[in-house]
Amino acid sequence: MKSPPEDLIDPETERAAKRLSSISGGRVLDVATGDGTFIQTLMKSLKDYESFVGIDISAEEVESARERMKEESVEILEMNAEFLDFDNEYFDTVCISYSLHHMVKLNTVMAEMYRVLKRGGHFIVSESYSDGDQTRAQKTGILNHHWDAEIDSQRGIPHNKTLKRDEIKENLGGLGLADIEIFDCTQSINCLPCDKWSECSDPMNTEGMRKSIEEIEHNLSNLEETEESRTRSRLIKEGEDLKERIRRTGTSPARSLVLIGRK
Ligand SMILES: C[S@@+](CC[C@H](N)C(=O)[O-])C[C@H]1O[C@@H](n2cnc3c(N)ncnc32)[C@H](O)[C@@H]1O
Repeated sequence: MKSPPEDLIDPETERAAKRLSSISGGRVLDVATGDGTFIQTLMKSLKDYESFVGIDISAEEVESARERMKEESVEILEMNAEFLDFDNEYFDTVCISYSLHHMVKLNTVMAEMYRVLKRGGHFIVSESYSDGDQTRAQKTGILNHHWDAEIDSQRGIPHNKTLKRDEIKENLGGLGLADIEIFDCTQSINCLPCDKWSECSDPMNTEGMRKSIEEIEHNLSNLEETEESRTRSRLIKEGEDLKERIRRTGTSPARSLVLIGRK
């Protein structure tokens, strides 16, 4: 695994990565896999593994994950996480990354993940949070995400604001997992094994700022096409303010929790 420069490493994120590197993944299920980012993180981070299955409700995301990982031996399936089409205790490891806040019935999804996990298997969650000690650039990232989530919700796509730290812990608490370890990370666990680590870790890096501003502009152009309303005018004003704020403070991913428990 390629390491970032030492002076840039957050010790807690490194501790989480070290813990992952001690886990034999076996058969791994990644729920709400999106473009498969977390599968790629785990492939580079876990001690070893037998196979990976990623599921996502969106046909578009499934297509993009399949394309991105066409060289890897990974199965990507279109499936709703509320009804996992697998036998009880089929997987050795189940995980969900940056997706708790996308779930309509989060308790059902968590129960399904628990059902398909073997006794003694690992349950891994990685999720950003909005409270606590965040830098100005991280606060900008959180505001941007809140705005983005509201626009998705307006368009009928389930997307909640970034959760608070305790909300993430509560969602796992009801499952009765044993030996839960919590890593409170300044950086994203996805960043450590990534080659672009040091460029991205600078909140003022022009590529990151350009991408965020472009995404806002894309959302703004979609808003132009929706019916006039007070909400629309407010969202347009907030989008313009956000672009200004990104130019001033830069932008960084919010802090995140990595939680690892056993069934
Ligand atoms: C932020 S993205 C995925 C992030 C990815 N896991 C990562 O770590 O980069 C959230 C994903 O949740 C998916 N999703 C939302 N509701 C879902 C559901 N009920 N079942 C499966 N996937 C769902 C969305 O289609 C989207 O791809």
